[in-house]
Amino acid sequence: MLIRGDFIKLLFCYVEKYGIIKYTKVEVIMDLIRLKNVEKKYKNGVTAIYDLNLAIEKGSFTFVIGGSGSGKSTLIKMLYREEKPTKGQIIVGGLDVAKLRNSKVYKLRRKLGIVFQDYRLLPKLTVYENVAFAMEVIGATKEATRKNVLRALEEVGLKNKVHNYPDQLSGGEQQRVAIARAIVNNPKLLLCDEPTGNLDPERSMEIMKVLEDINKTRGTTIIMATHDKEIVNRMKKQVVTLKDGHLVNFKKKGTYVDENI
Ligand SMILES: Nc1ncnc2c1ncn2[C@@H]1O[C@H](COP(=O)(O)OP(=O)(O)O)[C@@H](O)[C@H]1O
Ligand SMILES: [Mg+2]
Repeated sequence: MLIRGDFIKLLFCYVEKYGIIKYTKVEVIMDLIRLKNVEKKYKNGVTAIYDLNLAIEKGSFTFVIGGSGSGKSTLIKMLYREEKPTKGQIIVGGLDVAKLRNSKVYKLRRKLGIVFQDYRLLPKLTVYENVAFAMEVIGATKEATRKNVLRALEEVGLKNKVHNYPDQLSGGEQQRVAIARAIVNNPKLLLCDEPTGNLDPERSMEIMKVLEDINKTRGTTIIMATHDKEIVNRMKKQVVTLKDGHLVNFKKKGTYVDENI
């Protein structure tokens, strides 16, 4: 939630830029994420993102699409402060992400969950323990942990596998555990970077169904980077298209329009 000070700061930044209040109060509050003139140039001289302006509403489901090297992962990484932009401003849930001190990054990380292509489960922990770990590190009680872990595992359809170890699960199941881990603290935002990249089409659609349910029932804002045209075309969500670091399209209810991307 935007705290009052941040809201006023945001409002002023628009007054400053446009001279008039172009955005109504309601619209400002609705945005969970705002990027303003964001550029990312890596130390080796490669510019991965050019002058990106983007607003993502709370509760929305957004695909970030584009070919390999178009800047999808860089965009996702900047949202959770794995990378800092070299220019511009990124606001996530009222926090000015680039300006956050390292000691305050945890405030941002608590607002979000992250899912990667390669699951990243801890191999020596069971399904239950993998998910519970995310709550233990923030000091949750045992009871709260148990309640949230079982709810999350139920949502991803794995309540019957709580005692299994990751190597006793299929790829699709491992990814569902990773999703349960990412949502167990009930974050406002779920970032997914090619979550179906290692899965066959059928397993991929199962993952998409889980993500869609989370978006609908929890109201979690979801941003998912993918290069899978089939998935994007079937899901009919809003689509941000990147090409060589440039935003080339932002469609509210999109399909993977451009076959050349
Ligand atoms: N850590 C890094 N250092 C230097 N260049 C990078 C780094 N990460 C990504 N890049 C470059 O930035 C561009 C965008 O990469 P990336 O964001 O990973 O794209 P995508 O996820 O769409 O494949 C590519 O040219 C890539 O080589
Ligand atoms: Mg990538």
